[in-house]
Amino acid sequence: MSSVPRVGLLTGGGDCPGLNAVIRAVSKSLILQHNAQIVGFEDGFEGLIKQKSRRLEYKDVSGILTLGGTILGTSNTANPFRYYGRGGADVSRSVLQYYHELGLDALVAIGGDGTMSILHQLQEIGLRCIGVPKTIDNDLMGTDRTFGFDTAVAIATEAIDRLHTTAQSHSRVMIIETMGRHAGWIALYAGVAGGADVILLPEIEYEIDEIVRVCRKREIGGQHFTIITVAEGARPAGGDTAMREGTDIGGNKRYGGIGHQLEDQLRGRIRSQLRTSILGHIQRGGTPTAFDRNLATAFGSYAAAMVASGQSGRMVTLHNNQLGSIALADVANKTRTVPLDSPMLAAALSVGTSVGAKDFDVRLPGDTNTRPIS
Ligand code: F6P
Repeated sequence: MSSVPRVGLLTGGGDCPGLNAVIRAVSKSLILQHNAQIVGFEDGFEGLIKQKSRRLEYKDVSGILTLGGTILGTSNTANPFRYYGRGGADVSRSVLQYYHELGLDALVAIGGDGTMSILHQLQEIGLRCIGVPKTIDNDLMGTDRTFGFDTAVAIATEAIDRLHTTAQSHSRVMIIETMGRHAGWIALYAGVAGGADVILLPEIEYEIDEIVRVCRKREIGGQHFTIITVAEGARPAGGDTAMREGTDIGGNKRYGGIGHQLEDQLRGRIRSQLRTSILGHIQRGGTPTAFDRNLATAFGSYAAAMVASGQSGRMVTLHNNQLGSIALADVANKTRTVPLDSPMLAAALSVGTSVGAKDFDVRLPGDTNTRPIS
Protein backbone atom coordinates (compact mmCIF):
# COMPACT_ATOMS: atom_id res chain seq x y z
CA MET A 1 0.00 0.00 0.00
CA SER A 2 1.15 3.55 -0.75
CA SER A 3 1.80 5.97 2.13
CA VAL A 4 -1.48 7.62 1.14
CA PRO A 5 -3.56 4.64 -0.01
CA ARG A 6 -5.94 5.22 -2.91
CA VAL A 7 -8.92 2.90 -3.00
CA GLY A 8 -11.60 2.61 -5.68
CA LEU A 9 -15.19 1.85 -4.71
CA LEU A 10 -18.21 0.82 -6.78
CA THR A 11 -21.66 -0.70 -6.38
CA GLY A 12 -22.63 -3.27 -9.03
CA GLY A 13 -25.77 -5.13 -10.06
CA GLY A 14 -29.26 -4.36 -8.79
CA ASP A 15 -29.54 -1.88 -5.93
CA CYS A 16 -30.36 -2.96 -2.41
CA PRO A 17 -30.98 -1.32 0.98
CA GLY A 18 -27.67 -0.89 2.82
CA LEU A 19 -25.42 -0.02 -0.14
CA ASN A 20 -24.85 3.49 1.15
CA ALA A 21 -24.15 2.15 4.63
CA VAL A 22 -21.31 0.06 3.16
CA ILE A 23 -19.99 2.98 1.07
CA ARG A 24 -19.94 5.04 4.27
CA ALA A 25 -18.26 2.32 6.35
CA VAL A 26 -15.53 1.47 3.81
CA SER A 27 -14.77 5.15 3.16
CA LYS A 28 -14.86 6.42 6.74
CA SER A 29 -12.78 3.51 8.04
CA LEU A 30 -10.08 3.99 5.39
CA ILE A 31 -10.06 7.79 5.69
CA LEU A 32 -10.03 7.88 9.50
CA GLN A 33 -7.64 5.01 10.13
CA HIS A 34 -5.34 5.15 7.10
CA ASN A 35 -5.69 8.68 5.76
CA ALA A 36 -6.77 7.06 2.48
CA GLN A 37 -8.16 8.72 -0.63
CA ILE A 38 -11.36 7.17 -1.93
CA VAL A 39 -12.34 7.19 -5.60
CA GLY A 40 -15.97 6.34 -6.30
CA PHE A 41 -16.94 4.91 -9.70
CA GLU A 42 -20.34 5.89 -11.04
CA ASP A 43 -22.92 3.34 -12.24
CA GLY A 44 -21.04 0.19 -11.28
CA PHE A 45 -18.49 -1.21 -13.75
CA GLU A 46 -19.78 1.33 -16.27
CA GLY A 47 -17.75 3.93 -14.31
CA LEU A 48 -14.54 1.93 -14.74
CA ILE A 49 -15.24 1.36 -18.42
CA LYS A 50 -16.32 4.88 -19.33
CA GLN A 51 -13.97 6.56 -16.87
CA LYS A 52 -16.66 8.14 -14.71
CA SER A 53 -15.16 8.58 -11.25
CA ARG A 54 -15.06 11.16 -8.47
CA ARG A 55 -13.25 11.62 -5.17
CA LEU A 56 -15.33 10.73 -2.14
CA GLU A 57 -14.40 12.97 0.78
CA TYR A 58 -15.46 12.32 4.35
CA LYS A 59 -18.33 14.82 4.05
CA ASP A 60 -19.65 13.02 0.94
CA VAL A 61 -20.19 9.81 2.90
CA SER A 62 -21.66 11.46 6.00
CA GLY A 63 -25.41 11.37 6.50
CA ILE A 64 -26.02 8.49 4.09
CA LEU A 65 -26.31 5.58 6.56
CA THR A 66 -30.08 5.41 6.36
CA LEU A 67 -30.47 6.23 2.65
CA GLY A 68 -31.81 3.57 0.29
CA GLY A 69 -30.29 3.09 -3.17
CA THR A 70 -26.66 4.03 -3.85
CA ILE A 71 -25.10 7.50 -4.06
CA LEU A 72 -22.72 6.10 -6.72
CA GLY A 73 -25.41 4.70 -9.01
CA THR A 74 -25.24 1.15 -10.34
CA SER A 75 -25.70 -0.92 -13.47
CA ASN A 76 -26.78 -4.52 -13.81
CA THR A 77 -25.59 -4.81 -17.41
CA ALA A 78 -22.08 -3.25 -17.61
CA ASN A 79 -19.48 -6.04 -17.79
CA PRO A 80 -15.88 -5.12 -18.82
CA PHE A 81 -15.34 -8.60 -20.26
CA ARG A 82 -18.46 -8.41 -22.46
CA TYR A 83 -19.36 -4.77 -22.80
CA TYR A 84 -22.70 -4.25 -24.52
CA GLY A 85 -21.72 -0.62 -25.33
CA ARG A 86 -19.04 -1.97 -27.70
CA GLY A 87 -20.95 -4.89 -29.20
CA GLY A 88 -20.00 -7.34 -26.44
CA ALA A 89 -16.23 -6.59 -26.71
CA ASP A 90 -13.70 -7.32 -23.95
CA VAL A 91 -12.61 -3.88 -22.64
CA SER A 92 -10.91 -5.19 -19.50
CA ARG A 93 -7.40 -4.04 -20.58
CA SER A 94 -8.49 -0.41 -20.75
CA VAL A 95 -10.12 -0.84 -17.35
CA LEU A 96 -6.78 -2.08 -15.97
CA GLN A 97 -5.02 0.90 -17.54
CA TYR A 98 -7.53 3.34 -16.02
CA TYR A 99 -7.07 1.68 -12.60
CA HIS A 100 -3.31 2.30 -12.86
CA GLU A 101 -3.75 5.85 -14.20
CA LEU A 102 -5.81 6.65 -11.11
CA GLY A 103 -2.99 5.25 -8.94
CA LEU A 104 -5.30 2.84 -7.14
CA ASP A 105 -4.00 0.34 -4.59
CA ALA A 106 -7.24 -1.65 -4.51
CA LEU A 107 -10.82 -1.80 -5.74
CA VAL A 108 -13.72 -2.58 -3.40
CA ALA A 109 -16.89 -3.70 -5.20
CA ILE A 110 -20.20 -4.14 -3.42
CA GLY A 111 -22.44 -6.53 -5.32
CA GLY A 112 -24.04 -9.90 -5.92
CA ASP A 113 -22.93 -13.01 -7.78
CA GLY A 114 -22.52 -11.24 -11.15
CA THR A 115 -20.36 -8.52 -9.58
CA MET A 116 -18.25 -11.08 -7.69
CA SER A 117 -17.64 -13.08 -10.87
CA ILE A 118 -16.45 -9.95 -12.71
CA LEU A 119 -14.33 -8.97 -9.71
CA HIS A 120 -12.67 -12.37 -9.77
CA GLN A 121 -11.81 -11.89 -13.46
CA LEU A 122 -10.44 -8.38 -12.78
CA GLN A 123 -8.28 -9.77 -9.97
CA GLU A 124 -6.90 -12.34 -12.44
CA ILE A 125 -5.75 -9.61 -14.87
CA GLY A 126 -3.96 -7.59 -12.19
CA LEU A 127 -6.34 -5.39 -10.18
CA ARG A 128 -6.36 -5.90 -6.40
CA CYS A 129 -10.00 -6.61 -5.53
CA ILE A 130 -12.12 -7.02 -2.42
CA GLY A 131 -15.84 -7.88 -2.61
CA VAL A 132 -18.68 -7.09 -0.21
CA PRO A 133 -21.74 -9.37 -0.54
CA LYS A 134 -24.98 -7.57 -1.34
CA THR A 135 -28.37 -8.81 -2.47
CA ILE A 136 -31.90 -8.98 -1.21
CA ASP A 137 -31.93 -12.58 -2.55
CA ASN A 138 -29.44 -13.86 0.10
CA ASP A 139 -28.12 -16.30 -2.50
CA LEU A 140 -24.37 -15.60 -2.48
CA MET A 141 -22.07 -18.57 -1.97
CA GLY A 142 -19.81 -18.56 1.09
CA THR A 143 -21.79 -16.24 3.36
CA ASP A 144 -24.75 -17.05 5.61
CA ARG A 145 -26.16 -13.58 5.03
CA THR A 146 -26.01 -10.74 2.54
CA PHE A 147 -27.09 -7.27 3.61
CA GLY A 148 -30.41 -6.18 2.10
CA PHE A 149 -32.10 -9.50 2.74
CA ASP A 150 -33.41 -8.57 6.18
CA THR A 151 -34.97 -5.38 4.78
CA ALA A 152 -36.59 -7.23 1.87
CA VAL A 153 -38.03 -9.79 4.29
CA ALA A 154 -39.36 -7.01 6.54
CA ILE A 155 -41.04 -5.28 3.58
CA ALA A 156 -42.53 -8.52 2.24
CA THR A 157 -43.72 -9.49 5.72
CA GLU A 158 -45.47 -6.17 6.16
CA ALA A 159 -47.14 -6.67 2.79
CA ILE A 160 -48.33 -10.15 3.80
CA ASP A 161 -49.71 -8.75 7.08
CA ARG A 162 -51.67 -6.14 5.15
CA LEU A 163 -52.92 -8.67 2.63
CA HIS A 164 -53.99 -10.93 5.50
CA THR A 165 -56.60 -8.45 6.71
CA THR A 166 -58.10 -7.85 3.28
CA ALA A 167 -58.01 -11.60 2.53
CA GLN A 168 -59.97 -12.17 5.72
CA SER A 169 -62.53 -9.44 4.97
CA HIS A 170 -63.31 -10.83 1.51
CA SER A 171 -62.73 -14.54 2.19
CA ARG A 172 -60.20 -14.60 -0.62
CA VAL A 173 -57.12 -16.56 -1.58
CA MET A 174 -54.26 -14.09 -1.77
CA ILE A 175 -51.16 -14.92 -3.78
CA ILE A 176 -48.06 -12.85 -2.99
CA GLU A 177 -45.14 -13.09 -5.42
CA THR A 178 -41.75 -12.24 -3.94
CA MET A 179 -38.37 -11.70 -5.62
CA GLY A 180 -35.31 -13.91 -5.14
CA ARG A 181 -34.53 -15.37 -8.62
CA HIS A 182 -33.68 -19.08 -8.29
CA ALA A 183 -33.55 -18.95 -4.47
CA GLY A 184 -36.54 -19.03 -2.14
CA TRP A 185 -35.01 -17.25 0.86
CA ILE A 186 -37.27 -14.18 0.75
CA ALA A 187 -40.46 -16.22 0.18
CA LEU A 188 -39.54 -18.64 2.97
CA TYR A 189 -38.57 -16.07 5.59
CA ALA A 190 -41.38 -13.61 4.80
CA GLY A 191 -43.84 -16.50 4.47
CA VAL A 192 -42.94 -17.87 7.90
CA ALA A 193 -42.92 -14.37 9.46
CA GLY A 194 -46.28 -13.54 7.88
CA GLY A 195 -47.90 -16.88 8.78
CA ALA A 196 -48.52 -17.90 5.15
CA ASP A 197 -50.57 -21.07 4.69
CA VAL A 198 -48.64 -22.10 1.60
CA ILE A 199 -45.03 -21.20 0.73
CA LEU A 200 -43.79 -22.07 -2.76
CA LEU A 201 -40.05 -22.09 -3.43
CA PRO A 202 -37.89 -22.64 -6.51
CA GLU A 203 -36.16 -25.43 -4.60
CA ILE A 204 -39.36 -27.56 -4.37
CA GLU A 205 -41.58 -28.07 -7.44
CA TYR A 206 -45.18 -27.44 -6.46
CA GLU A 207 -48.20 -29.67 -7.12
CA ILE A 208 -51.36 -27.76 -7.92
CA ASP A 209 -53.54 -30.52 -6.37
CA GLU A 210 -51.78 -30.02 -3.03
CA ILE A 211 -52.44 -26.27 -3.07
CA VAL A 212 -56.09 -26.90 -4.00
CA ARG A 213 -56.30 -29.37 -1.09
CA VAL A 214 -55.02 -26.76 1.39
CA CYS A 215 -57.40 -24.04 0.14
CA ARG A 216 -60.43 -26.38 0.18
CA LYS A 217 -59.61 -27.74 3.61
CA ARG A 218 -59.52 -24.20 4.93
CA GLU A 219 -62.80 -23.32 3.16
CA ILE A 220 -64.51 -26.38 4.65
CA GLY A 221 -62.95 -25.85 8.07
CA GLY A 222 -64.32 -22.31 8.33
CA GLN A 223 -61.12 -20.44 7.58
CA HIS A 224 -62.40 -18.68 4.49
CA PHE A 225 -59.13 -17.23 3.30
CA THR A 226 -55.70 -18.53 2.38
CA ILE A 227 -52.35 -16.78 2.08
CA ILE A 228 -49.94 -18.16 -0.52
CA THR A 229 -46.40 -16.80 -0.78
CA VAL A 230 -44.72 -17.74 -4.05
CA ALA A 231 -41.10 -17.04 -4.95
CA GLU A 232 -40.71 -15.65 -8.47
CA GLY A 233 -38.50 -18.63 -9.37
CA ALA A 234 -41.00 -21.30 -8.23
CA ARG A 235 -42.44 -23.69 -10.80
CA PRO A 236 -45.08 -26.39 -11.00
CA ALA A 237 -44.06 -30.04 -11.19
CA GLY A 238 -43.24 -30.78 -14.79
CA GLY A 239 -43.69 -27.10 -15.73
CA ASP A 240 -41.50 -24.11 -16.40
CA THR A 241 -40.52 -21.03 -14.42
CA ALA A 242 -42.20 -17.79 -15.52
CA MET A 243 -39.64 -15.61 -17.26
CA ARG A 244 -39.53 -12.16 -18.84
CA GLU A 245 -37.38 -10.62 -21.58
CA GLY A 246 -33.82 -9.43 -20.82
CA THR A 247 -30.75 -10.50 -18.85
CA ASP A 248 -28.65 -9.02 -16.05
CA ILE A 249 -24.90 -8.47 -15.50
CA GLY A 250 -24.25 -12.18 -15.02
CA GLY A 251 -26.27 -13.13 -18.11
CA ASN A 252 -29.15 -14.35 -15.90
CA LYS A 253 -32.68 -14.19 -17.29
CA ARG A 254 -35.34 -12.04 -15.60
CA TYR A 255 -38.00 -13.80 -13.55
CA GLY A 256 -41.62 -12.75 -13.08
CA GLY A 257 -45.24 -13.78 -13.57
CA ILE A 258 -45.59 -17.00 -11.59
CA GLY A 259 -48.18 -15.42 -9.26
CA HIS A 260 -50.69 -14.81 -12.04
CA GLN A 261 -49.88 -18.18 -13.58
CA LEU A 262 -50.71 -19.85 -10.28
CA GLU A 263 -53.93 -17.83 -10.02
CA ASP A 264 -54.95 -19.17 -13.46
CA GLN A 265 -54.12 -22.72 -12.38
CA LEU A 266 -56.27 -22.43 -9.24
CA ARG A 267 -59.26 -20.63 -10.80
CA GLY A 268 -62.29 -22.90 -11.06
CA ARG A 269 -60.85 -25.43 -8.64
CA ILE A 270 -61.63 -23.57 -5.41
CA ARG A 271 -64.68 -21.58 -4.31
CA SER A 272 -62.93 -18.46 -3.04
CA GLN A 273 -62.00 -15.52 -5.23
CA LEU A 274 -58.31 -15.20 -6.04
CA ARG A 275 -56.13 -12.09 -6.09
CA THR A 276 -52.42 -11.75 -6.85
CA SER A 277 -49.98 -9.08 -5.63
CA ILE A 278 -46.49 -8.83 -7.09
CA LEU A 279 -44.22 -7.10 -4.60
CA GLY A 280 -41.46 -6.45 -7.16
CA HIS A 281 -38.94 -3.68 -6.64
CA ILE A 282 -40.70 -2.37 -3.52
CA GLN A 283 -38.66 -5.08 -1.77
CA ARG A 284 -35.44 -3.32 -2.81
CA GLY A 285 -36.39 0.27 -2.06
CA GLY A 286 -36.09 2.62 0.87
CA THR A 287 -34.22 2.66 4.12
CA PRO A 288 -32.45 -0.48 5.44
CA THR A 289 -33.53 -2.14 8.68
CA ALA A 290 -31.36 -1.70 11.78
CA PHE A 291 -30.02 -5.23 11.22
CA ASP A 292 -28.96 -4.42 7.66
CA ARG A 293 -27.39 -1.11 8.71
CA ASN A 294 -25.34 -2.96 11.30
CA LEU A 295 -24.38 -5.78 8.93
CA ALA A 296 -23.47 -3.31 6.17
CA THR A 297 -21.34 -1.27 8.58
CA ALA A 298 -19.59 -4.39 9.89
CA PHE A 299 -18.99 -5.68 6.33
CA GLY A 300 -17.69 -2.29 5.17
CA SER A 301 -15.29 -1.78 8.06
CA TYR A 302 -14.04 -5.37 7.66
CA ALA A 303 -13.47 -4.80 3.93
CA ALA A 304 -11.48 -1.66 4.78
CA ALA A 305 -9.32 -3.66 7.21
CA MET A 306 -8.71 -6.29 4.51
CA VAL A 307 -7.61 -3.61 2.06
CA ALA A 308 -5.33 -2.01 4.67
CA SER A 309 -3.70 -5.35 5.51
CA GLY A 310 -2.90 -5.97 1.85
CA GLN A 311 -5.42 -8.74 1.17
CA SER A 312 -7.04 -9.14 -2.22
CA GLY A 313 -8.99 -11.61 -4.33
CA ARG A 314 -11.44 -12.20 -1.50
CA MET A 315 -15.06 -11.45 -0.51
CA VAL A 316 -16.17 -10.55 3.03
CA THR A 317 -18.40 -13.22 4.62
CA LEU A 318 -20.55 -13.85 7.66
CA HIS A 319 -20.40 -17.45 8.79
CA ASN A 320 -21.72 -18.76 12.13
CA ASN A 321 -21.97 -15.14 13.25
CA GLN A 322 -18.26 -14.51 12.55
CA LEU A 323 -16.91 -12.06 9.99
CA GLY A 324 -14.37 -13.61 7.65
CA SER A 325 -13.61 -13.90 3.97
CA ILE A 326 -13.58 -16.35 1.09
CA ALA A 327 -11.60 -16.46 -2.17
CA LEU A 328 -13.48 -14.80 -5.04
CA ALA A 329 -12.62 -17.91 -7.07
CA ASP A 330 -14.88 -19.92 -4.72
CA VAL A 331 -17.78 -17.49 -5.10
CA ALA A 332 -17.63 -16.73 -8.83
CA ASN A 333 -20.43 -18.27 -10.90
CA LYS A 334 -21.99 -19.99 -7.89
CA THR A 335 -25.20 -19.39 -5.95
CA ARG A 336 -26.69 -20.60 -2.68
CA THR A 337 -30.27 -21.80 -2.66
CA VAL A 338 -32.39 -22.92 0.32
CA PRO A 339 -31.15 -26.37 1.38
CA LEU A 340 -33.87 -29.01 1.55
CA ASP A 341 -32.93 -29.77 5.15
CA SER A 342 -33.23 -26.10 6.14
CA PRO A 343 -34.38 -25.76 9.77
CA MET A 344 -36.58 -22.84 8.71
CA LEU A 345 -38.35 -25.14 6.25
CA ALA A 346 -38.73 -27.68 9.06
CA ALA A 347 -40.21 -24.97 11.30
CA ALA A 348 -42.69 -23.98 8.58
CA LEU A 349 -43.83 -27.59 8.09
CA SER A 350 -44.11 -28.19 11.81
CA VAL A 351 -46.66 -25.37 12.19
CA GLY A 352 -48.75 -26.82 9.37
CA THR A 353 -47.57 -24.66 6.48
CA SER A 354 -47.65 -26.41 3.12
CA VAL A 355 -44.76 -26.13 0.67
CA GLY A 356 -47.07 -27.26 -2.13
CA ALA A 357 -45.67 -30.78 -2.32
CA LYS A 358 -47.67 -33.55 -0.65
CA ASP A 359 -44.81 -35.84 0.30
CA PHE A 360 -42.15 -33.28 1.08
CA ASP A 361 -40.68 -33.48 4.57
CA VAL A 362 -37.51 -32.27 6.27
CA ARG A 363 -35.59 -34.89 8.21
CA LEU A 364 -33.58 -33.25 10.91
CA PRO A 365 -31.42 -35.01 13.48
CA GLY A 366 -32.97 -35.60 16.92
CA ASP A 367 -35.22 -32.90 18.33
CA THR A 368 -32.94 -32.12 21.23
CA ASN A 369 -29.93 -31.32 19.02
CA THR A 370 -29.05 -27.69 18.60
CA ARG A 371 -29.75 -26.38 15.13
CA PRO A 372 -28.95 -23.19 13.26
CA ILE A 373 -31.94 -21.00 12.59
CA SER A 374 -31.57 -20.96 8.80
O1 F6P B 1 -31.13 -9.91 -7.54
C1 F6P B 1 -32.02 -8.97 -7.01
C2 F6P B 1 -33.29 -8.93 -7.80
O2 F6P B 1 -34.15 -7.99 -7.21
C3 F6P B 1 -33.98 -10.27 -7.98
O3 F6P B 1 -34.67 -10.70 -6.84
C4 F6P B 1 -34.86 -9.98 -9.18
O4 F6P B 1 -35.19 -11.16 -9.89
C5 F6P B 1 -33.99 -9.09 -10.00
O5 F6P B 1 -33.04 -8.51 -9.13
C6 F6P B 1 -34.74 -8.00 -10.72
O6 F6P B 1 -33.83 -7.33 -11.52
P1 F6P B 1 -34.15 -5.96 -12.26
O7 F6P B 1 -33.93 -4.86 -11.26
O8 F6P B 1 -33.16 -5.93 -13.37
O9 F6P B 1 -35.57 -6.01 -12.73
